[in-house]
Amino acid sequence: MDFNFDQKIQRENTHSVKFDGRRQYFGTTDVSPLWVADMDFAVPECVTRALQERINHPVFGYTLYPESIYQSIIDWFQRRHQWTIEREWIVFAPGVVPSLFAAAKAFAQEGEGVIVQSPVYFPFFSAVTTNNRKLINNPLREINGRYEMDFEHLEQCAQQGATLLMLCTPHNPVGRVWSEAELQQVLEISRRYDLTILSDDIHCDLVYSGVKHTMLGRLAQPGDKLITTIAPNKSFNIPGLGLSALVIPNAAERNAMKHMFETLHVGNYNPLSIAAFEAAYREGDHWLDALMQYLETTRDFAADFIAREIPQIKLIKPEATYLLWLDCRGLGMGDAQLRDFFVRSCKVGMNPGTVFGEGGSGFMRMNIGARSVVIINALNSILKNIPSRSNEL
Ligand SMILES: Cc1ncc(COP(=O)(O)O)c(C=O)c1O
Repeated sequence: MDFNFDQKIQRENTHSVKFDGRRQYFGTTDVSPLWVADMDFAVPECVTRALQERINHPVFGYTLYPESIYQSIIDWFQRRHQWTIEREWIVFAPGVVPSLFAAAKAFAQEGEGVIVQSPVYFPFFSAVTTNNRKLINNPLREINGRYEMDFEHLEQCAQQGATLLMLCTPHNPVGRVWSEAELQQVLEISRRYDLTILSDDIHCDLVYSGVKHTMLGRLAQPGDKLITTIAPNKSFNIPGLGLSALVIPNAAERNAMKHMFETLHVGNYNPLSIAAFEAAYREGDHWLDALMQYLETTRDFAADFIAREIPQIKLIKPEATYLLWLDCRGLGMGDAQLRDFFVRSCKVGMNPGTVFGEGGSGFMRMNIGARSVVIINALNSILKNIPSRSNEL
C-alpha cells in the first residue's frame, strides 16, 4: 500500500497551534513551524472514513463507549506490544495531560513529592506544581552520548517523601526507549519505596527500527501500583480529538483515577473522537509502519547532515518520537540569543530546551513530523546562517 507523506497539506488558517499560533509564540509567522508535537501528514484513510461514516448520522448526542473500542485497545497492545490487557483495566480520559494532573492529585497529598526526570515534556512539571505537590527532580544523565536514568539518585528522591513517579516512556524530548532492564529497575525501586508509577507511553508506537519498546505494564507484577496512559493521538496524528485511555490493573489506583475525573464530571466524550480512536487502532497498522519508515529516513538524513555540516550542533539520534533534541551548546550562545538566532536568522521555529527543565539549557527541540523537504530546507537555513566561528556572533 502506498502512502504519500510528501503531499503538501495547507495547514495555515485552520486554527492550528503549530501554524496559526506562530505569531503568538515566535512573534512572527515567518518561521518554519517545527515545534508543537503534531505532524503535518494526513491521517490514515481508515480514520477519515470512520469520521465520515459517523458524520453521516446527523445526531451528535451524548455517547457511550462501545465495547468495540475496548477491544480495539486490547487487540492493538496484544498485536503491537505483546501486552495483555484486561477489559476492566481500561478507563477513558481526555488527552493524556489531564491524566498527569489527575494522577498528581490522586497519588500525592498537598506537599508530598512527585518525581519527574528532566529534561521532560513540560506538563510533567506543571501537573505537580499547579496542584501544590512537591516537585522532586531526578535529572537524566548523558553518558557517552546516551541519556540514562540515574537510579542511585532516584532512590534518594524516593526517600524524600515521594509517593508518585511520573515516567515518560519513550522519553520526550531525549528520544530514549528505556530497556527492559532499566524498566525493571524502575519497578524495583517503586516497590521498595511504595511509589505509584504514572507511565506515559503516548509515544510507544513511534519507535525506529532496531529498537523495541517495552510497555512497563507488561513487566509489572500484580500489586504494582501502575497507571499507564496510552493514546493513538501521536501515532496517528489525531491529538486535536483529545481522547486517551488509562490502563490500570489494580482496582485501588483505578478507582482513585476514576474518582478524580468524577469530581470534575469529566467522563463523556465526543462521538467523533471515539470513531477516530477505534479506527486507528483497528486498521492503522500499515499506515503507521509506512510513517515510521518515512520518519526514519528523515531522522537519518538530519543526523548525517548535522554531523557532517553543522558540527557545532550535536544530535543523539532518537530511538523513538519525531522529535530531535539538538544540543546547541557548541554555538556558544545564551538561551535567549539561541532562540533569537533560530527564529530571526534561520527562520526555524523550534521549542527552546529551557521549557523542558534542568538539562534543557542550550538545547532546542525540532519536530520532524513534516514533509522531508521542509526539514531539509530548515537544516540548510540553519547551516547558511551558522556563524563560522561561534564567538563571531
Ligand atoms: C509525553 C507526552 N505526553 C502527553 C502529550 C500530550 O498528550 P495529549 O495531547 O493527549 O494531552 C505529549 C505531547 O507532546 C507528550 O509528549
